[in-house]
Amino acid sequence: MGCLISDSWVVVVLLLPVFWVFYKVWMMMMRRDEVERNGGGFAVPRGSWGWPLIGETLEFIACGYTSKPVSFMDRRKSLYGNVFRTHILGKAIVVSTDAEVNRMILQNHGNAFIPCYPKSITELLGKSSILQMNGSLHKRVHALIGVFLKSPQFKARITRDIENVIRVSLSNWMNKSCQVYVQDETKKITFEILVQVLLSVGPGEEMNFLKREFEEFIKGLICLPIKFPGTRLYKSLKAKERLLKMVNKIIKERKNAMQKTEENGPPNDAIDVLLRDTGYSDEMQQRRLPLDFISGNIIEMMIPGEETVPTAMTLAVKFLIDNPVALAHLVDENMELKNRKTRHVKNILGQITCLCHLLKIRSFTTSAHHTFSGYLIPKGWCVLASFSSIHMDEMNYENPYEFDPWRWKKVGAAVSSNLFTPFGGGQRLCPGLELSRLEISIFLHHLVTTYRWAAEKDEIIYFPTVRMKRKLPITIMPLQQ
Ligand code: HEM
Repeated sequence: MGCLISDSWVVVVLLLPVFWVFYKVWMMMMRRDEVERNGGGFAVPRGSWGWPLIGETLEFIACGYTSKPVSFMDRRKSLYGNVFRTHILGKAIVVSTDAEVNRMILQNHGNAFIPCYPKSITELLGKSSILQMNGSLHKRVHALIGVFLKSPQFKARITRDIENVIRVSLSNWMNKSCQVYVQDETKKITFEILVQVLLSVGPGEEMNFLKREFEEFIKGLICLPIKFPGTRLYKSLKAKERLLKMVNKIIKERKNAMQKTEENGPPNDAIDVLLRDTGYSDEMQQRRLPLDFISGNIIEMMIPGEETVPTAMTLAVKFLIDNPVALAHLVDENMELKNRKTRHVKNILGQITCLCHLLKIRSFTTSAHHTFSGYLIPKGWCVLASFSSIHMDEMNYENPYEFDPWRWKKVGAAVSSNLFTPFGGGQRLCPGLELSRLEISIFLHHLVTTYRWAAEKDEIIYFPTVRMKRKLPITIMPLQQ
């Protein structure tokens, strides 16, 4: 036994110089860019590269599992300043926790910043996905979808659809022995609305197929980027192929129907919007968007909408459980509004949507050396605008981790738009902003005016995405009307 221990020590001692050389080479490689200065005296942000190869990934992930996931950013911010460099998930990254710098990144003048994702996501998204594109085509698709989702005709129609889906779902809760998992139920509700908005598919076989395959598809968004039969990424790519086949079929049928009828009323869904657009210019020719471009984008637009809205709804229920005063206030307000058929849950929404995007995975990469606010970002480095750090900074919000739906009343117009960006901003402002608010408001309105509930203990998990550990089980009791 003693011999075994002393042998292990010999191995460790012999390997030490190898590790040391490896470490030095790594540091030299990483410093190559760091020492660069341009004539204007701009400097690469300060920071640490962490360990060879893994960089600071382990600490980043460990912080994600705590109740304060932005502590990774906070620690570095106090050491190196509001903008610092690090090395996580295999990439050299400049992280900005500065509201003004974040605004400049989002505005992206001159298209200097190109969206950049972990490798598994890049593999799964098409090259011409709205989430990955840059430049004029991105602007066009973003504007088309944004204008459609904001239009009064769409909002009037979708409000009725959302009301129906939520009413039916809530009434079905009584058949589930009165015990429901809020996280699962809100996912079902919002998926139904999402596919209605994007491709007008209602409940039935087609919707079940889309749900099943989409779930398989998104499992691969955060996985090892290894692609051969049996791996997670491979299975997700296959699921995407099946989704594309079905969406292509729907689009072709729609196109045929469009050619037969002269009717040109307001578009019904995102397919109509993209099919009718004639402003796509290719080799100086104005023509319609290609069909495979449309089908890819319809699927990819499901990604940002699929998890955020149910997470916001679930967190709303969780925060209301933990804050009976806020719940009583919301019930009174909504009971009163029930007859007037309007809803007002703005104060709560602000805080929830803020939490929803605590961990963003999209960053940007620079297309050339780039200088701003006194910093130099070398070509090819990633830049992450950390909105969560701004939302969770005590300098910006009092007790940021406390659920306080009245905070918006207290701070009022004093909150600068740079300090509150739950839906992103600039060229990448979420086009689903108003739709999400509508969905969450209608859900909360019907929930608090239909049921009372008792909740079991549960806690929020922040990594890799925000969710409830036990899916938030509640026992519901119908209100006597
Ligand atoms: C509470 C719900 C939601 C929140 C908090 C949210 C938040 C965001 C944020 C922060 C971004 C910008 C991401 C970035 O800059 O990297 C974004 C982009 C986007 N969101 Fe949402 N979102 C929500 C719901 C939705 C819904 C329901 C849809 C779909 C109908 C949607 C569609 C999109 C799309 C397509 C983009 C990409 C825009 C682009 O890159 O041009 N979102 N969202």
